[in-house]
Amino acid sequence: MLKSFLLEDWLEAHTEPMPEFPLAGSTGPAWTLRNLLELDGGSSLERMLESDILYSRAAGATALRQAVAQMQDVPIEHVLIMTGAAEALSHIFAAAAEPGANVIVPTPCFPPYNVVPEALGLDVRAYRLRREDSYAVDLDEIRRLTDSRTKLILVNSPHNPTGSVIDDKTMEALHDFAAERGVQFVCDEVYHPIYHGMAMTSASRLASATVVGDLSKAFALSGLRIGWIVESDQRRRDLYLTAREYCTVSNSPITEFLGEIAVRHRRVILDRTRDVAKTHVKLLEQVLEEHAGVVGWVRPGGGMTALPWLISGANSRKFCEYAAARGLLLAPGDCFGVPDHFRVSFGVGRDWYAVAMQRLGALLSTWPASSA
Ligand SMILES: Cc1ncc(COP(=O)(O)O)c(C=O)c1O
Repeated sequence: MLKSFLLEDWLEAHTEPMPEFPLAGSTGPAWTLRNLLELDGGSSLERMLESDILYSRAAGATALRQAVAQMQDVPIEHVLIMTGAAEALSHIFAAAAEPGANVIVPTPCFPPYNVVPEALGLDVRAYRLRREDSYAVDLDEIRRLTDSRTKLILVNSPHNPTGSVIDDKTMEALHDFAAERGVQFVCDEVYHPIYHGMAMTSASRLASATVVGDLSKAFALSGLRIGWIVESDQRRRDLYLTAREYCTVSNSPITEFLGEIAVRHRRVILDRTRDVAKTHVKLLEQVLEEHAGVVGWVRPGGGMTALPWLISGANSRKFCEYAAARGLLLAPGDCFGVPDHFRVSFGVGRDWYAVAMQRLGALLSTWPASSA
């Protein structure tokens, strides 16, 4: 059975009315349909209006697959389009589910990483991203957790919720270790290529990595519900495709059409996300540094989320409720298994982010460190 999705429950409870400053999400600056179509010039709307509203292909429309394959620098056959990275991850975990098997995932993490495999009967082994290590992956811990029943090792870089980044050398070492042990190596890179320091390369370059990507995060087009798996292993691709044929059948040809436009125009779209995140992370840094007596944080190396913590060690839910009642929505850390932390987005709100940060500052000033 699947456990309640605390984060979705929290977001759902604060959707209507829409908070003044919604900083609990994890995507980038939104696009309207008009703005996306305009990227492609005048004829795309006409072409879309003429397209048949029928099933697409299970592996994805050829034009979209081709665009993703070109972006990832892999053969088109290696790309399977999914309904978001969420579907991709579900099929990956389902394919790993054998009696007595285990999977290795980070904690804290995007909640499905532990809830979905656990519901499938897998033994979930978590390696910890510790704030005192700047939320870095501890290779030795992963090595210690791996045994003959390990089916997959999953990493997420840039990481949600901490914003930590695995550098290319470490990613390669992790991949090589998994390959030597005959374990599937899965890299969820839905926030690639949004980096705030040194830029990293996609794990698609690694020979036996399974790479999960999407248009929801770095592309900020979560409403298209498009994700993908890059997989060089034919047997695994067959398994994922079969799972998709049973569960989803295909994506919509309309959203795939729009997705293909987005991938072709990725330079403009990704530059916009990077630009917004870069400006906002500085504003966030300023306010958190000003209130260093109440909150601690690790500056994110990538992505659009940060995971500060209350210095007092108290559960942050009360503070998040206090902030929500005053128009600023954060995500409580208990949604990620770290109750004294909270997640804050810096990918949204082009016009109002500075005002949101003033509000956050005011809330932190009026929140006594002793009760925090
Ligand atoms: C790390 C990570 N992976 C995957 C997903 C799923 O995204 P989607 O299904 O919108 O592609 C999310 C969404 O929050 C995420 O944060």
